[in-house]
Amino acid sequence: MKVAIYSTHKFEKTYLENYCKAHSLRFLETRLTIETVGLAQGMDAISIFVNDDASAPVLQKLKETGVNYIALRSAGFNHVDLKEAKRLGIRLARVPDYSPAAIAEHTVALMLVLNRKLIKANTRVHDMNFSLDGLTGFDMSGKTVGILGTGKIGSVVARIMHGFNCHILAYDPYENEELKNKYNVRYTDYQTLFKQSDIITLHLPLTPESKYIINKENIESMKTGAMLINTSRGGLVDTKEVIKALKSGKIGSFGIDVYEEEGGLFFEDHSDIILQDDVIARLMTFQNVMITSHQAFLTHEALVKIAETTGYNLECWEKGTSSVNEI
Ligand code: NAI
Repeated sequence: MKVAIYSTHKFEKTYLENYCKAHSLRFLETRLTIETVGLAQGMDAISIFVNDDASAPVLQKLKETGVNYIALRSAGFNHVDLKEAKRLGIRLARVPDYSPAAIAEHTVALMLVLNRKLIKANTRVHDMNFSLDGLTGFDMSGKTVGILGTGKIGSVVARIMHGFNCHILAYDPYENEELKNKYNVRYTDYQTLFKQSDIITLHLPLTPESKYIINKENIESMKTGAMLINTSRGGLVDTKEVIKALKSGKIGSFGIDVYEEEGGLFFEDHSDIILQDDVIARLMTFQNVMITSHQAFLTHEALVKIAETTGYNLECWEKGTSSVNEI
């Protein structure tokens, strides 16, 4: 198959070359947008990543170029208009579970860095300042962690938090019996989870129902000084409300790997451009905010699985069969 790989990053290119050898790949650094869709002319398929635009107008233009397949190099597909793709007869497949451990472990890393103020501590030491004032954290042991969404990633977070001797509250429309029995996870409603958790971590998909699940009202329900972590999707959090809560001290610390306006910002080097986004600019001024730019998935194991699964999805289509990963 001839495949245009949109949003190619240096970190994944060799993996894709190794695991998609059967196909002819055209690597494009640019994102898929209405302006760049024409670059897919002559291709059988395209492959896209989390910040590509697969909205209805883009899909319509894509179909006109003759592309019938989209291989997502991600698990999430909130950036794709599935209904329009179906109407146009464009088939889509994703990488459903490349490494839940990678994202879960990064989630816990954010918790520890924030709690133990490791960035500040490291900067101080490198400045020959060995004082400890202002670096006090809290024992994770005995604290309550609230997990929203106990699917593949949330389950691993629960297992790790159990190892830390935390109490675990969870909300998910589907309760996982193994988590209840093995890791003492207690399922509850949103309000109880927000009220009782010292740390709240998000592992649910972004859907119209979950958009801004962290909003003014739910923030008001939280414990004063609670830590909030989001490694799922930026749109789950009303960032402006979080900024207000950080200013008042209602939210004690905030760790994110995703941001609602990350498209066109994350994954790219903007170091010599004037930052136009005042919201993220304000977030960056807080010492109790930790931001990574959508790198929770970025482990060797995950990159192998993403490339391997993408190769498999393309191969199924080439053979005229269905992939188990179609959506
Ligand atoms: P999953 O599909 O295995 O689990 C999601 C869980 O959320 C399911 O159990 C579902 O029942 C639950 N859920 C759905 N709506 C809910 C709601 N309104 N409230 C509470 N729970 C709800 O997905 P997985 O693999 O665990 O991924 C979770 C999210 O992590 C994905 O949606 C994706 O956006 C994000 N992600 C982030 C990555 C990163 O690099 N930062 C990489 C991979 C995924």
